[in-house]
Amino acid sequence: MTKPSPSAELDWTDDGQPLSRQFDDVYFSRESGLEETRFVFLQHNHLAERWAALPADGRFVIGETGFGTGLNFLCAWQLWQQTAPTTAHLHFISCEKYPLTATDMTRSLQLWPELSELSQPLIDQYQVISPGWQHFSFADGRVTLTLMIGDVLDTLPLLDAGKGIDAWFLDGFAPVKNPGMWQPALYQQLARLAAPGCTLATFTSVGEVRRGLQAAGFAMRKTRGFGRKRDMLCGELVEPAKAEWRAPWFSRPEPSSTPSDKTVVVIGAGLAGCSTAFALARRGWQVTLIDRHDTLAAEASGNPQGILYCKLSAHATSLSRFILSAYSFSLRQLHQQLQQGDATWQACGVLQLPGNPKEQKRQAELANLGLPADLLCSVDTEAASTLAGIPLASGGLWFPAAGWVNPPALCQALATQQTISHMLHTAAITLQQSVQGWQVLNQQDHCLASAAQVVLCTAADTRQFVQTRHLPLKAIRGQITHLPATTQSQALRTVLCADGYISPARCGEHHLGASFRFDRLDSQPSAEENLGNLDLLDSLAPSLGAFWPEARSQSSQLKARASLRCTSPDYLPLIGPVADAEKLLSCYAELGKDASKQPDSPAPWLDGLWINCAHGSRGLISAPLSGELIAAYLSGEPAPLPQDLLAALHPNRFLLRDLVRGKIQPPVKPAQPS
Ligand SMILES: Cc1cc2nc3c(=O)[nH]c(=O)nc-3n(C[C@H](O)[C@H](O)[C@H](O)COP(=O)(O)OP(=O)(O)OC[C@H]3O[C@@H](n4cnc5c(N)ncnc54)[C@H](O)[C@@H]3O)c2cc1C
Ligand SMILES: C[S@@+](CC[C@H](N)C(=O)[O-])C[C@H]1O[C@@H](n2cnc3c(N)ncnc32)[C@H](O)[C@@H]1O
Repeated sequence: MTKPSPSAELDWTDDGQPLSRQFDDVYFSRESGLEETRFVFLQHNHLAERWAALPADGRFVIGETGFGTGLNFLCAWQLWQQTAPTTAHLHFISCEKYPLTATDMTRSLQLWPELSELSQPLIDQYQVISPGWQHFSFADGRVTLTLMIGDVLDTLPLLDAGKGIDAWFLDGFAPVKNPGMWQPALYQQLARLAAPGCTLATFTSVGEVRRGLQAAGFAMRKTRGFGRKRDMLCGELVEPAKAEWRAPWFSRPEPSSTPSDKTVVVIGAGLAGCSTAFALARRGWQVTLIDRHDTLAAEASGNPQGILYCKLSAHATSLSRFILSAYSFSLRQLHQQLQQGDATWQACGVLQLPGNPKEQKRQAELANLGLPADLLCSVDTEAASTLAGIPLASGGLWFPAAGWVNPPALCQALATQQTISHMLHTAAITLQQSVQGWQVLNQQDHCLASAAQVVLCTAADTRQFVQTRHLPLKAIRGQITHLPATTQSQALRTVLCADGYISPARCGEHHLGASFRFDRLDSQPSAEENLGNLDLLDSLAPSLGAFWPEARSQSSQLKARASLRCTSPDYLPLIGPVADAEKLLSCYAELGKDASKQPDSPAPWLDGLWINCAHGSRGLISAPLSGELIAAYLSGEPAPLPQDLLAALHPNRFLLRDLVRGKIQPPVKPAQPS
């Protein structure tokens, strides 16, 4: 696990302004923080003029060093509302080494009642700020915030800014108070990430800063500062940074279609497909959502209750870091898009109970990391039993913000955006590349739909398409068992998880999960798996079995649902662009002999083809952020995750791994005619 960043330690002045104890400095000007932000950052980046000139589907990216109270973000958002076209998109990226607690942020932002319409949604979403990158969506998707928790010198080098940053807000306490941040390494990152024409403004006028920025490629000038400050600096990028080598097989394809062609077909209407369609529709894409069933969420995403099961490792594995970012985003999206209720979802909390000594150790390690209390905390047997409403045999890890979700309700909420048209009862059989993009064909080779881009959200059936049949996807059958609520069982107030899980009743039924079977790929429920699930009950709480004394003898009559999960060999999903597998192997054949080579020929992308699949047993956590990632790729936006995680999720990772390990041989190139 990434070491958690300590929270900001604040003192408060008599007039209610926050002061940093860590830096012994003020968060904003004593005269007026609001006016200072508008003057230094908004005015000197010429934002009002630039935004008024944006086209209807324009995009703009601001980068900031030091999120602090979020005041700069809110002021920028307010100006955006006033000046940019209503359909344009603002992406604000900031970093923060010492995030404010939600309570301190609320208190700080109370200073600015005129921003309350915007600060309230920020405060509402500013929950479960765990280590890693935090992603937020506001104003019906027209404003995105990515907050990189950690030191700017560690986080910026991992940023994939897409088409680049258009304006920098160089904030972060006075250089004399915070010399560690104001470093040439920072200025080089600002230049590396800058889009052509990028501007920069900062409140300081220190000569070393000016010279550092100039050396990195910015033309900087001194100008009058705000209030009592004599000078400040502003400028623009004049000498773009030399591009660093980056593994081309993990980079982004150059956009192939004309920017105005924002048509996309998403195949598969489960959690992955609906999240993808939603994220794209919010960015103005015309989405056609295809599924072979008559309804959305008819396969793995069709269970009546799924758990927000945030299973973390105490070590900073890629999987664990991905889950952390995805979990917080999933919660934000649920709160925004789906009203809690008896049928939809309940943030009733999840108790993870240690089923065995290994699990006990994992939980103890996690509990000792000092993670935020609204993410998880350790509870003893008594506290756990009180939370659960029934007696438990042990304590465990308590995730207060988690709960259960009805996945079809979430899919429905996400996929009913105006710009998403549904093509249900429609099996996509073949994909054909054309000059304009892609055609999706049916069994009779008739074109079902065509678009500039296609995203495959077809779980393990992604292998059915010629272009993606090389991917190591595996289907694993699972079954849940429905148990009718009883007077006793209604006492259960939270989700319990160990080897299995049970949730509080939804519409009069509990759901008990889940089996893992590798030998069957059908969806016919089995009595055997019901019995297996009932065995799991005992590991959750000793009293639970007694709530359904007849269940075992009636295992063949119990209601149940079986479907297929899709997993990958490293249990991470596959999210990103698709390359021509054979050409990729030829293109980077030299890596098979020497993995340290740095070839820079671009990967042979199948332009406009993407996948989002292999969400395993945790689609409720991973799918919403996966949709944002696909939308960021297609729209040229900054990615919501650091580059090493983009690589860990990249569909090319298995081919490259096998090539480097000599497990597959590149195809022999045909001899060139002399
Ligand atoms: C028993 C069980 C219990 C689970 N419990 C949980 C849980 O508690 N919490 C949790 O987070 N996750 C849980 N999961 C996992 C979760 O359900 C999955 O991760 C998630 O549903 C995957 O979503 P998906 O959209 O990738 O796949 P799916 O929901 O399977 O969607 C794929 C869609 O693609 C469509 N499709 C495929 N091929 C084609 C084609 N050629 N043409 C047209 N349409 C096509 C299918 O019809 C399907 O609708 C569970 C899974 C199972 C099986
Ligand atoms: C002056 S405050 C920023 C005010 C902020 N922009 C706002 O709108 O409230 C500076 C912020 O930079 C953060 N910071 C300082 N050094 C940092 C570093 N090396 N990496 C990331 N954040 C840093 C501080 O914790 C603090 O929150």
